[in-house]
Amino acid sequence: MASDELVLVTGASSGIGRELARCFAADGCRLILTARRQPELDALAAELKARSGNDVTVILADLAQADGISALLATLQQRNLSPDVLVNNAGFGARGEFTRMPAERLAAMLAVNVDAVTALAHALLPAMRERQRGGILNVASTAAFQPGPYMAAYYASKAYVLSLSEALFTECRADGVAVTCLCPGATATGFAAQANVEGSLLFRLGQMHVTAVAHAGYAGFRSGRALVIPGWRNKLGVQALRVSPRALVRKLISRLQH
Ligand SMILES: NC(=O)c1ccc[n+]([C@@H]2O[C@H](COP(=O)([O-])OP(=O)(O)OC[C@H]3O[C@@H](n4cnc5c(N)ncnc54)[C@H](OP(=O)(O)O)[C@@H]3O)[C@@H](O)[C@H]2O)c1
Repeated sequence: MASDELVLVTGASSGIGRELARCFAADGCRLILTARRQPELDALAAELKARSGNDVTVILADLAQADGISALLATLQQRNLSPDVLVNNAGFGARGEFTRMPAERLAAMLAVNVDAVTALAHALLPAMRERQRGGILNVASTAAFQPGPYMAAYYASKAYVLSLSEALFTECRADGVAVTCLCPGATATGFAAQANVEGSLLFRLGQMHVTAVAHAGYAGFRSGRALVIPGWRNKLGVQALRVSPRALVRKLISRLQH
C-alpha cells in the first residue's frame, strides 16, 4: 500500500523532484524533502501538508559537500526515519569543454549525480529489502544512453545512474523492492539555466512539461518498470541513437549541445 509509505526525495526544492514529491503526497505518502534551498522546501512542505494532511519533514543537505551525504544519513537515523522509497533526483549539469571545466565544479557534479545516488541507495536499500517493499526511483536522463561531447562528465554521470539502476532492479526484484530509472529528455525546469544549455539546439528543439515527466516516472515506478523514458520524441530519439553508428552519434550529440 502506498498510503503508509515514507518517501525521501532529494532535490525536492524545484523541478522534477518537486513534482515527484507532489505525486507521492497525492498518493497519501509521508515525505522527507531534501535540498539546499530552505524557503522552497518549506513552501512545498506547507503545500503538501495542507493538501494531504500527512507528515512532511524538511532536511537541508548539500550533497556536494564532503560530509553532506553522511550528515543527511545521520539526521535520518537520529530522527528514526527509515524511508520505504528513495527518490534519487538531485542533480545538475554543466556544459563546456571538459578541460576548461573548473575541477571543483566537476567534483561537485559527480558528488551529487553519482556519489549521493550510490551512497543513499547503499544505505537505505537493506531495510527496504528486509521489509520486502518500497524501492528506489533514480532520475538519470536520455543523456545516459550515449557520450556527450561538451557535456562529457554529465552524460557519463547519467550513464552510471542508468547502469546502476538496471543492475539493482535485477538484484532487488526477488525481494519485492522496485528500482526504476527515469530518463527524461529536455524538460522545462531550472536545469537548463544552471547547466548553461538554454541556448543549445537540444533545448531549443523543445522541452517537455515537468508535470508530464514526473507523472510518467511515478506511474512507471508504481508499475515496477525498470526504465521510463517519458515522451514519444525522447523514446524515438533514444531508439534511433541506439541503432546508429557511434561515430555519427558522437557528431550528432556534439551538434545538439551547441
Ligand atoms: N531538466 C532537464 O532537462 C533534465 C533532463 C534529464 C535529466 N534531468 C535530471 O533531473 C534531475 C532534476 O533536475 P531538474 O530538471 O528538476 O532541475 P532543477 O529544477 O535545477 O532541480 C535540481 C534539484 O537538485 C538539487 N540540487 C542541486 N545541487 C544540489 C546539491 N549540491 N545538494 C543537494 N541538492 C542539490 C536542487 O536543489 P537546491 O538547489 O535547493 O540544492 C534542485 O532541487 C537531475 O538529476 C537532472 O540531471 C533533468
